[in-house]
Amino acid sequence: MKLSASVCIFSLMATHSASGFMLSSQQSTKKIPLVLSAAPLENDNGVVVADTRRNFMTKTMATAMATAATAASGVLAAPSPAHAVKGTDKVNAMLKAYGLPTIPSVSNGMVPLLEVWGKGKNRFPLLVLMNHPITWVVTLPSNDVNGEDGTIQAGEYAKGDTATLFVYQDEGHVDNIATADKSLFERALIKAISQKGSNIYQNFKVTKVVPQDGPEYGGKQYVVCDFKYELLTGAGFEVDRRGVAAITSEGPAVEVLWAASTRERFKKTEGTLRDITSSFRVWADGLNFSEELAKTEERFG
Ligand SMILES: *[C@@H]1O[C@H](CO)[C@@H](O)[C@H](O)[C@H]1NC(C)=O
Repeated sequence: MKLSASVCIFSLMATHSASGFMLSSQQSTKKIPLVLSAAPLENDNGVVVADTRRNFMTKTMATAMATAATAASGVLAAPSPAHAVKGTDKVNAMLKAYGLPTIPSVSNGMVPLLEVWGKGKNRFPLLVLMNHPITWVVTLPSNDVNGEDGTIQAGEYAKGDTATLFVYQDEGHVDNIATADKSLFERALIKAISQKGSNIYQNFKVTKVVPQDGPEYGGKQYVVCDFKYELLTGAGFEVDRRGVAAITSEGPAVEVLWAASTRERFKKTEGTLRDITSSFRVWADGLNFSEELAKTEERFG
C-alpha cells in the first residue's frame, strides 16, 4: 500500500511534467481509494506529505477528490513545518547552544533549517543543517510511541524538486569518506532514491564525485556527487531525474542530503540544488542532545 501510494504521487508528478496540468479521470479514480485508506500518503522519498489518519479520514469523498485534483494541479497538500528551527538568528542561537560555530546570514531567497533527526529511541541523534528556498515546503520526521519515522525534507513537490536527508546505516561509520570508493556513494544514493522499493528507478549513475575541502567544512569530510536516474511511474511514464548530493559520515552512519529535479527543470534548478547541498552539515559525536531527546521522551515515553 505504501508503495502504491508513492507510485500514485509519481504518476501525478509525471502527468504534471509530461503533459501540463492534466489529470485523467482514470488517474483520479485510481487515487481516491489510496487517499481514503489508512496508510499515510507519501511522496517519492517515503516522506508523509499528507497524513491520511489526521487529515483525511474524517473528510468526505468529495474533499478527497478535490485534494487529489489540487495535488495534480500543483499545490500538493503537505504538513506545515510546525517545529522547524528556521531563520538565521534562530538557527545561530541553537548552534551556539550546541557549542557550534554560527553561520553567516543566508540570502538569495534561501532560509536555513536546523533540525535534530533521530529523537526517537529507535534512532540515534544527528543535528542537521541545510538551506532551502524559502518557498519550499518542509517535512520533518514524526515521532510517536513506536519511535521516529520519516526524514527531513524540503521540496516543491508538485514540480518534483526535492532535497532529502537520507541516513545510510548499512555500512556504519565510514572513516575518510573523502577518499572512499565511488561504489559507496552509489550504494548510499541508490538506497536513498529507492526508499519505497527497488523497482521505481533504473539506469542510476553517479556522474561526478568531488571531495570538498574548503575551510567552511571545518576539517570535516564532505563529498559532492552528481547523479542521474530514470524514475518509473505507476502510470507508465519514465521521468529523467538529475541530482546533486552532499555526503558525509558522522556517528554510526553515512549521511546523504540529495537534491533532485526532472532533467528539464535541472537546467533551471541546478544552482539552487547545489546551494542546498553545499549548505548541508551534520553533527553527531560530542553534542549534548539530552535536552532535545528528553522532550520526545516526555511526550512518548
Ligand atoms: C547535557 O545537558 C544537560 C542539560 O540540558 C545537562 O544536565 C547534562 O549535564 C549535560 N551533559 C553533559 C555530558 O554535559
